[in-house]
Amino acid sequence: MILSGASTVAGVIGWPVSHSRSPRLHGYWLELLDIDGAYVPLAVPPDKIEVALAALPAMGLCGVNVTVPHKTAAATACTRLDAAASAMGAVNTIVVTDDGELNGSNTDGVGFLENLKQGAGWTGGGKAVVLGAGGAARAVLWALLEAGAEEVVVVNRTASRAESLVAEFSGPVSVRPWNDRGLVLADASLLVNTTSLGMQGADPLDLDLDRLPPDTIVNDIVYVPLETDLLRRARMRGNRTVDGLGMLIHQAVPGFAAWFGVEPPVNEDVRAFVLDGLA
Ligand code: ATR
Repeated sequence: MILSGASTVAGVIGWPVSHSRSPRLHGYWLELLDIDGAYVPLAVPPDKIEVALAALPAMGLCGVNVTVPHKTAAATACTRLDAAASAMGAVNTIVVTDDGELNGSNTDGVGFLENLKQGAGWTGGGKAVVLGAGGAARAVLWALLEAGAEEVVVVNRTASRAESLVAEFSGPVSVRPWNDRGLVLADASLLVNTTSLGMQGADPLDLDLDRLPPDTIVNDIVYVPLETDLLRRARMRGNRTVDGLGMLIHQAVPGFAAWFGVEPPVNEDVRAFVLDGLA
């Protein structure tokens, strides 16, 4: 796409930002939909994040995605937050309003839910087991409670981190020790790995699936590799599995729609294009 002087410009702010798949994804949609717009990587160091966000309206950007490590700083910088961003204290999508204010939202949770819905028809209910207690787990926990999970059990290597995460939420959430991670699977209807274990280059996830019921849905938010060892083992046992790529794509939809005025498609072609960039 050759840009004009009237192009709509959005981007992703992170530090580092070179690993981000978002420019490829949004670039694909812009090209596909023949939009006079651009989506650029913006590498902003932590000591410059406040000034960079404050400058978005002056620079004429229509908005940005925000990634690690800036999601909390972005929540502070925004004039308004949607319910998810406010509950999580973290913003991943900013829309610059016509009067130059920053509207912050967090679409990680809805991206996670949309992925589970489309990938395995999961729309709530039952007991969910969440492995991990980092930023990704916070979005997943919020989403599961929003969707009406009957019980959410958080299992994390560092118990204190799981306890503080759970304390941020009201609802049927509890913590179980990391050593019980195989035991708690016995009556789970959903298992979500939000840890970095199983990611390319990271340690494997050591989890005994013997007690996992055959109809439990297993989701890994890791997407490199696309089929993690956890998903492969779950699939071999006959469980329905959902990979992490869909969450990445679905969380991007609301921002694109707000900035460029068109709801972008989520389908096999988009997945294949993003996957190609991971190879
Ligand atoms: P993110 O914000 O992407 O979720 P994070 O905050 O670094 O990333 O969290 C990574 C998660 O993976 C944490 O739950 C971490 O457990 P700790 O809280 O105990 O650090 C988990 N994790 C990373 N390496 C691990 C390992 N070797 N064994 C068990 N859990 C691990």
